[in-house]
Amino acid sequence: MKEVAIIGFGMTKFGELWDKSLRDLMSEAGLAAISNAAVDHIDSAYVGAMSSGLFVGQEHIASLMADYMGMPGIPVTHVESACASGGLALRQAILEVASGESEIVLAGGVEKMNDGADETYALATASDQEYEAFHGVTFPGLYAMIAHAHMFQYGTKREHLADVAVKNHENGLLNPNAQFHRKITREDVLNSVMVAEPLNLLDCSPVTDGAAAVIVTTLENAKKTGKPFVKILASAHATDSIALHSRKNLATIPAVQKAAEKAYKKANISPADLNVVEVHDCFTIAELVVMEELAIVERGHSGKAVSEGMTKLSGKIPVNTSGGLKSKGHPVGATGIAQVVELFEQLTGQAGDRHG
Ligand code: COA
Repeated sequence: MKEVAIIGFGMTKFGELWDKSLRDLMSEAGLAAISNAAVDHIDSAYVGAMSSGLFVGQEHIASLMADYMGMPGIPVTHVESACASGGLALRQAILEVASGESEIVLAGGVEKMNDGADETYALATASDQEYEAFHGVTFPGLYAMIAHAHMFQYGTKREHLADVAVKNHENGLLNPNAQFHRKITREDVLNSVMVAEPLNLLDCSPVTDGAAAVIVTTLENAKKTGKPFVKILASAHATDSIALHSRKNLATIPAVQKAAEKAYKKANISPADLNVVEVHDCFTIAELVVMEELAIVERGHSGKAVSEGMTKLSGKIPVNTSGGLKSKGHPVGATGIAQVVELFEQLTGQAGDRHG
């Protein structure tokens, strides 16, 4: 297998983008990435999107993307894996370049969630339809159950959850592409309207429109460009039971632990080697659980670590320097790629004041 690197990125602003359509968003991010990487062509592309059919009534978005980017001949593949759609689009691009099949591949992600669809219903289709969604459980409810289990087992406090949101809004203030540029306090979170107890409105990521893209190539080619690049040390993927009730411990997300273990092993590093981390904080509790699954903090200790400042920009290991899904926004299919855009900027010295 060939060694692989990322050589360029592009991203739209995240938010309620009433004057931009799905195709506008993915073309804008894709063309920005191509221009940033200064490549004269791409061999193929992958686009992550969770549910463009339910959100805007548009399927077949891979070909649409090639068409609207002005490249109707190239192979483009749509990748769907709910909130991991963008991350998996990147993994496919990495594997295609590593295998030698292509030399320059675009990995993008997009979601247009604010066009009038019932977004809570659309999002809930990513849960177990027969055992969860059919009975009225939606994602805020599922994560509320995870939060209760974590609080019960480890003594995690409501304030610990709130402090995740406070930190991420603080970081989002420094990110020009973030949906929210609003400082919030612990009291704001605790007093915001209840969504699914114990989670309030300010514990939730918002409903967001946006797209992001990166260009993947061989390490050999990246070195020739003379431009900043980031070498991919490892990419790993794992799954677990979709239904929450099938998990042995409700306060865990085992797929993250399995994937992280594989990635650390392949990259030959340990959690202690990490300098900056982007995690999936769709709800404040998710950031805490994922930190534990990545083993950057002992199980049950994440809430205290956040409240003590360990994961702030000035802390020992900054987490979600982008503002996270909480403040930057969460256009589901674009999220995984946007997290990689943030890490690319961090590792190539382009993150400005967000540099941890
Ligand atoms: N964080 C901060 N502010 C938010 C927000 C959020 N998550 N969601 C909405 N707001 C703000 C809006 O900007 C608006 O502010 P304004 O009055 O100053 O303009 C206000 O709150 C009301 O917005 P509105 O769009 O009416 O909120 P809503 O009640 O329709 O939606 C949620 C709020 C929390 C229900 C919605 O954001 C949501 O469903 N989030 C979860 C998304 C999700 O499940 N994603 C997948 C995860 S796996």
